[in-house]
Amino acid sequence: MVNIMEDKLIIQKAASKEEFEALYDLRWRLLRKPWNQPKGSEKDEREDESYSFIAILDNKIIGTARLHKNNEKEGQIRYLAVEKEYQKMDIGKNLMKKIEMHAINLGLESVILNARKTAENFFKKLGYKVIRKGHTLFNEIEHYVMRKSLINAN
Ligand SMILES: CC(C)(COP(=O)(O)OP(=O)(O)OC[C@H]1O[C@@H](n2cnc3c(N)ncnc32)[C@H](O)[C@@H]1OP(=O)(O)O)[C@@H](O)C(=O)NCCC(=O)NCCS
Repeated sequence: MVNIMEDKLIIQKAASKEEFEALYDLRWRLLRKPWNQPKGSEKDEREDESYSFIAILDNKIIGTARLHKNNEKEGQIRYLAVEKEYQKMDIGKNLMKKIEMHAINLGLESVILNARKTAENFFKKLGYKVIRKGHTLFNEIEHYVMRKSLINAN
């Protein structure tokens, strides 16, 4: 496995119109297009109140993930995606670390997410635990609701 040099990788909150366009495109290509979903299906009604992060390597946006608050104690992570040719280089892990730090700074005590079955073990490695079976997206993608406490080991 190739590991990118951590000091070359920048992970920050998306701010400009161009950054948002790039991250929506990345979401759509990785999470929607393979299931024939139209452009626009990569967004939801909470974009304006969410925190979207991007991973940048050599001036290129190669990963993204989003955090929103479900309430004062719980955050939710959605739309995690890393460009195919950059997967398995710790980009996803670093995005998750940054987003969890942000959640802690917001005073949140836990984060939940709907993990695709194919990503379940990725999240397990980061300390997430399955709390229940979730929905099935596009009639075929099974999800598991997973949770991680940000204040202790449970
Ligand atoms: C899932 C995804 C975000 C992982 O990102 P990534 O940058 O490839 O993952 P990392 O390189 O940071 O992996 C961190 C660790 O998890 C492991 N891992 C990565 N993807 C995995 C997977 N699908 N299943 C099991 N383990 C996985 C890595 O081997 C690595 O293990 P290590 O720390 O022991 O070396 C990425 O594969 C992706 O974008 N997939 C398509 C979109 C998607 O499914 N998003 C999640 C929707 S819920």
